[in-house]
Amino acid sequence: SAEPEIRKGLAGVVVDRTAISKVNPDTNSLLYRGYPVQELAARCSFEEVAYLLWHGELPTPEQLAELERAERSQRALDPNVKAVIDSLPTTAHPMDVVRTALSVIGANDPTTEDSSRGSNLAKSVRLLAQIPAVVAYDQRRRRGEDLVPPRDDLDYSANFLHMTFGEVPAPVVVDAFRVSMVLYAEHSFNASTFTARVITSTLSDLYSAVVGAVGALKGPLHGGANEAVMHVFDEIGDASKAESWLDQALAEKRKIMGFGHRVYKHGDSRVPTMKAALDTLVAEYGRKDLADLYDRLEAAMTDRKNIQPNLDYPSGPAYHLMGFDTLTFTPLFVASRITGWTAHIMEQLESNALIRPLSLYDGPDERHL
Ligand code: CMC
Repeated sequence: SAEPEIRKGLAGVVVDRTAISKVNPDTNSLLYRGYPVQELAARCSFEEVAYLLWHGELPTPEQLAELERAERSQRALDPNVKAVIDSLPTTAHPMDVVRTALSVIGANDPTTEDSSRGSNLAKSVRLLAQIPAVVAYDQRRRRGEDLVPPRDDLDYSANFLHMTFGEVPAPVVVDAFRVSMVLYAEHSFNASTFTARVITSTLSDLYSAVVGAVGALKGPLHGGANEAVMHVFDEIGDASKAESWLDQALAEKRKIMGFGHRVYKHGDSRVPTMKAALDTLVAEYGRKDLADLYDRLEAAMTDRKNIQPNLDYPSGPAYHLMGFDTLTFTPLFVASRITGWTAHIMEQLESNALIRPLSLYDGPDERHL
């Protein structure tokens, strides 16, 4: 009989339905629950987008107030979680710290085994509120700084920056951060979201699914690319060296971080919005040198390979200008994508089937001792 077809990387394979987001690479569009992501980034807070992803509709003012109240009341870093973070070396990769902290949060939660939608929604809000505390504190302790308690008079984005830097930066900086959170929130069946759905499909708990998703996101072919982009910028150093650096890297068959995408082959729909936010930061901090390097490398990559930037290309330098350590970039992606992951976990449970594909055996034929 004919050999079954193998689709390496599941490329082009449709594995399930989803009502959460729609990616259309031909029209360069990304919709969250039907709304173009550019419109959401222009008009909505990250809290509103989280509500939309979880519930399918934007919140009424009352529903938004309720979510904001719940999020603001759960922002303080749990002393148990802080103790575990403090037990880890400051040399630990921040993604490993986040992964560990999320595991501890799950182990501490008496409702972990309750997979009802109501309980999973409550856990999702709690994680939305807790992850900034973990990420902010971890960056501070690496710098030898003390924990900054949350402020419940600030929105999600302003509070996140306050807990990281001990002050609220200029409004354009808070806004660029909000835009990045909205853009990273959801992207259909990417590797980490699919990981969360695989784990959920065994009827494991939400925290286990999220911890696995963090592991999948860490890799440089996925979320780790925003960190890797900044290493590329550091390596190149100056705009005038962009072309020669690229030619050498391509000759060595290196993948250029921040470029290319499994789904978008003519450009990532999120890039123009994030690039506009990066431009406001470049103006705010007077860093035309960084913008020049950005433009020169993008132009050279288009010229040599005709491969377009993905979201990580503008977000990496944007987070750098905001003052985040390069190692903190991928945990920021976690802080945002927790909304998409948890929406997918709840959707998977609504019509679950165990995810268990087949493989084609090509080891030795049967043999005997
Ligand atoms: N640098 C150099 N060459 C590339 C790149 C790149 N960034 N991306 C694709 N190519 C080449 C690839 O080598 C292949 O060339 P050839 O046909 O000569 O072998 C051709 O373009 C087609 O690429 P592909 O292998 O079919 O692409 P893929 O769908 O398997 O890979 C990708 C997608 C994202 C893994 C890849 O583009 C890549 O490694 N990019 C760099 C890492 C990165 O920026 N990741 C972030 C992805 S978006 C954010 C997220 O979802 O986390």
